[in-house]
Amino acid sequence: MKTFDYQDHKIILGDSLEILSCEISDHSVDLIFVDPPYNIGKNFNGHKDKWATEEEYLNWCYEWIDLCINKLKSNGSMYIMTSTQFMPYFDIFIRKRMAILSRLIWYYDSSGVQAKNYYGSMYEPILFCVKNPNDYTFNSQDILVEAKTGAKRKLIDYRKNPPQVYNLEKVPGNVWEFSRVRYRMDEYENHPTQKPIALLKRIIAASSNKGDTILDPFSGTFTTSFVAKQLGRKSIGIELQEDYVKIGLRRLQLTNEYNGEKLQKEIRTFETKKARTQNPSLLNLFGKQSDETFIH
Ligand SMILES: C[S@@+](CC[C@H](N)C(=O)[O-])C[C@H]1O[C@@H](n2cnc3c(N)ncnc32)[C@H](O)[C@@H]1O
Repeated sequence: MKTFDYQDHKIILGDSLEILSCEISDHSVDLIFVDPPYNIGKNFNGHKDKWATEEEYLNWCYEWIDLCINKLKSNGSMYIMTSTQFMPYFDIFIRKRMAILSRLIWYYDSSGVQAKNYYGSMYEPILFCVKNPNDYTFNSQDILVEAKTGAKRKLIDYRKNPPQVYNLEKVPGNVWEFSRVRYRMDEYENHPTQKPIALLKRIIAASSNKGDTILDPFSGTFTTSFVAKQLGRKSIGIELQEDYVKIGLRRLQLTNEYNGEKLQKEIRTFETKKARTQNPSLLNLFGKQSDETFIH
């Protein structure tokens, strides 16, 4: 285990079960976002996301779920993800311990491998749970989205007295559409299951306040900690793989060196000087960050 402690942001390299058990105080965290391995065989830097049996996977999950719940303050919230096939087990386990307020669907379009003989997987489930349904943070005004129906058509709601125009904005429903992180996006990092910044922005803005502490026990590319920093929250991120910890340290701009190694974002194929010389017009397609990467 190794801890990188930069006042408001802590990155811990190690096994989350061990770290949750010994290193994080109970009742100390305002919000937890958990995006664990899904037991579907992804390759996390050579570490296979597959347990010998479903029971073994679930028993491992139940252990860290209980630990996470202990870390939350009495008014804390937790958002938890897993694959569609395991979410029903999580739901049954968690609803005996917390109040599940929303069963969210993160929906995305998929232009990659398309299923031909069954319906392709286009969503991932997320549970939004709170310790106390009478006392929790929910900043609804900070996450409003456009109300597409009535307001756009300038309809009048005659059920109201006096009649009123429909609201232009609303609190999002439980189906959230955000693009997956794609190779060409500025936020892309080399990780098989990186979550989008936009998804974490909504969760953190809604369920925490400035100065609150947010914990992510399976940090991957540290999207949670990155957004926490952007939004003025504190973060604790745990990750087993050293290469992903290096991404986190760089992404949060906590240091630009690791054991003497300069931390730099990997150059993507389309960012090479060759691409630049062959097709100068490509330059306009890339954002500032990609453009800078060319120069290294
Ligand atoms: C689904 S990914 C998280 C992705 C992350 N939300 C992001 O936006 O990049 C799960 C991560 O958990 C890490 N992991 C697996 N087992 C772990 C363990 N026992 N302790 C800490 N991290 C672990 C994997 O290396 C992987 O990066």
